[in-house]
Amino acid sequence: MNLKSSFYSVTFLTILCLFVSCKEQYVSKSEVLIVSEGFKNPLGFYDVTPTFSWQLPVVDAVKNQKAYQIVVASSEALLPNNADLWDSNKQESSQSTFIQYAGKALNSRQKVYWQVKYWNQDNVASEWSAINSFELGLLNNNDWQAKWIGLPTKEEGVIGSQENIIHRPQYLRKGFELTKNVASARLYITAKGVFDVAINGQDVSDDVMPPGYTPYKKRIETITYDVSNLINSGKNTIGVEVAAGWHSGRLGWMKSFWSDTESPKIICQLELTMEDGSKEIIVSDASWKGTTNGPIRLSEIYDGETYDANLEIPAWTTNTFDDKNWKPVNAFDIINDIKLEPKRHTTVKSKITLETKEVVEKDGAAIFDLQQNMVGVPLLKVPMKKGETLKIRFAEMLSPDGTFYTDNYRSAQSTDYYTASEDGVVEWMPKFTFHGFRYVELSGFDASKSPSKDWVTGLVQYSDFEENGTFTSSHEKLNQLQSNIVWGLRGNFFDIPTDCPQRDERMGWTGDAQVFGPTAMFNANVYKFWASWLQSVRESQYDNGGIPWVVPDVLYNNKVSAGWGDVCTIIPWKIYYRTGDKRILEENYETMKGWVAYHETSSKDFISSMGGFADWLQPLPANGDNKGDTSHSLIGTAFFAHSAKLTAQTAQALGKTEDYNTYNQLYKNVANAFAEKFFDEKGKIKDVAETQTSYLLALAFDLLPEAKQANAKQYLLEKINEADNHLRTGFLGTPLLSEVLDETGEIDLMYKLLFNETYPSWFYSINQGATTIWERWNSYSKEEGFNPMNMNSLNHYAYGAIGEWMYERIAGIAPLEPGYKKISIAPQPNAPLNAASASYETPYGKVTSSWKIENNTFQLETTIPPNTTAVISIPANTSEALLLNGETFKDNEHIKLTKTTANSFEFLAQPGTYILVSKF
Ligand code: BGC
Repeated sequence: MNLKSSFYSVTFLTILCLFVSCKEQYVSKSEVLIVSEGFKNPLGFYDVTPTFSWQLPVVDAVKNQKAYQIVVASSEALLPNNADLWDSNKQESSQSTFIQYAGKALNSRQKVYWQVKYWNQDNVASEWSAINSFELGLLNNNDWQAKWIGLPTKEEGVIGSQENIIHRPQYLRKGFELTKNVASARLYITAKGVFDVAINGQDVSDDVMPPGYTPYKKRIETITYDVSNLINSGKNTIGVEVAAGWHSGRLGWMKSFWSDTESPKIICQLELTMEDGSKEIIVSDASWKGTTNGPIRLSEIYDGETYDANLEIPAWTTNTFDDKNWKPVNAFDIINDIKLEPKRHTTVKSKITLETKEVVEKDGAAIFDLQQNMVGVPLLKVPMKKGETLKIRFAEMLSPDGTFYTDNYRSAQSTDYYTASEDGVVEWMPKFTFHGFRYVELSGFDASKSPSKDWVTGLVQYSDFEENGTFTSSHEKLNQLQSNIVWGLRGNFFDIPTDCPQRDERMGWTGDAQVFGPTAMFNANVYKFWASWLQSVRESQYDNGGIPWVVPDVLYNNKVSAGWGDVCTIIPWKIYYRTGDKRILEENYETMKGWVAYHETSSKDFISSMGGFADWLQPLPANGDNKGDTSHSLIGTAFFAHSAKLTAQTAQALGKTEDYNTYNQLYKNVANAFAEKFFDEKGKIKDVAETQTSYLLALAFDLLPEAKQANAKQYLLEKINEADNHLRTGFLGTPLLSEVLDETGEIDLMYKLLFNETYPSWFYSINQGATTIWERWNSYSKEEGFNPMNMNSLNHYAYGAIGEWMYERIAGIAPLEPGYKKISIAPQPNAPLNAASASYETPYGKVTSSWKIENNTFQLETTIPPNTTAVISIPANTSEALLLNGETFKDNEHIKLTKTTANSFEFLAQPGTYILVSKF
């Protein structure tokens, strides 16, 4: 090597060293930055005291967080060093989720930028994360200069066979002129009803039926759109369609509850910042014009949409349209009784597209089979003749003779009509309604054409959340069950949690929500969905503390039900446990207390007389009643104790010691009274019907003294045995089965119940063709056809509650501490399964657990996310060899063997991926 080349190599090496050592000062930046309940860079955000969460990257150098720093500023340029809103400074803490903002007060419209850095377990700093942002919406009624506007639309009419109030959809527009160039534009908008907005002929968004469904007499959610790219200098036009929706349409068992006299309206405010920094504002007011002579003649959630293409109004949202024949709208001041607040979760969107799998022609009609029961609308591409009307019907199933089964829609017409204005292929989808269906029937198309699959596509619509869990196994029917659970979720998370999506209900039944909520959290990122609906629950609580049957309370009958109203204690607690966010407890604490107080007033000597729907739809009830055989008083008392206990736990988590003592004592008093009143000294039910659900409630809610507990378990097993090892549980008992049998050590029996093929069981409905969870274990059977009861939904998520156990115990992923800071990986393999795996997005990142059994060998592959630890437990013949990542197991800095029993190994593991193999 000559001198010159050695000089170059030394220099090169020095630069390389500098680079490497410089690199070594940092570890990779954090990812997945989130504000509050799971929002990523939201626009029109609701929260002025947000929380911040982030995830550490999955890299070898990062196991845990030692410290963090968050900086928040009013402009991107100020970050990271000149944060003018908040600098948390370096905080020694391993907390990386839900850190409360503690900076300057934030205001409506404000755009806020933030980023975060952390220090890893070795105190090595990360680089600053990417800059994220949120922009607040209009937070208060006094931010609104606009007025509610609309035409008077109330007509008496008939829908189907029912007399009803009809509100014709309205078309509202306004032209305006700008002399300057626009730098940015925000449209703040909402409706009493549901709307669709366009500017200069272009759709503003693909939201479905915004703003969604809240207790409209208390609060209406507003939506913010960035419309900077749609507005020009010079002439502009804004046009809004508004239909009845949940606000003015038929809902519940009423004509129109929220407002039978008030026509749908919109309110909107277009706020413009011009290039020279000046501001302009265009508002909804009396200068707008409107018509009801548009193509959408009628749109009702239950009944469907009627569209007449002859009445289309070409280019009505553009500047070229002349609205001289339109009427001036009526304008109304906003009133402060109804709060206008930014939407707290995401709008509904078309999320999945389903192709038609089969078409058959029957009696001049064509039936399209999507082979999946779904919720949303059809996208149609159908040849038609001018003047003909296409009739579009829906069904969840066909009768054995191939005809449409629509009895279970009850009074919901669920039928769309489209009248063609010319010959040719019509492309259309309804806009302000939705249907629950697997089959679509078309009649009235161009009879010279033969129907083909591409005429109908299913657009699956639900609130815009991501799915964040997967579960799969070696058993086809168990996988079908998981699929049915997920489709039940997709079908019933239409802005609010609904009981069912197809018949004349689609309401926020509190009991159904209580039962399915925990499973929903595994399958989808629904924290903000629940947090938002719980706000509606709080707003709907009666003055006496009662929680209505449905939320929003469209029945308004002042009635309550045990096990239904308890949604207000159960769901916040479950969310807290899954997320680790105490704010959900803080927000709901007063409501919990109010509900427990209501329980108290419904009880005498702690024994409840609340009543309600009881163990709803229990199969084979001896009394023949939908409410099942379990004593109503026993159920009421059990939920009284349970809600008192959850309120005590909440008080404890919030550091309210005195309250904790009060509610814990109350729980004990109720539990004692319960045990005395309903159980004899041996732990057997006395004086009331002995049912599986009575024992399940007593054991799951921990209501019996130890002495009675062991026997009660035996009596429960006897009851199950008496039923030929089948469940006899309805809505309230079913979710408790797995939990109780598991804790009792009866995993074999729980597997037996889960894999039962005969009635009543989960697989029974699958054997009858179910592609979603049904309302009844036997909503349909091949032998007997459709269940004749008039409540017979084929998309009713409640019995899908078993999903929680599938994730937590079959795959074996469960939190050991709130928010999965400490995780349990403890799969429970059992026949007939020989493999199962699940993944779940915890607040810290993805955790996976995947096991299989082959040749008497048990193999677990698991990934533990950064900034958590896990206790892993695997079944094993512990006298035989144990392998870690293919080699004989030895403790190392990442994983240690902490416990060995005759048939299991237990480990403490740091973040990382491990493959453990034991003899089984
Ligand atoms: C709903 C249920 C609900 C029940 C109350 C039904 O009509 O569909 O799921 O919980 O009423 O009994």
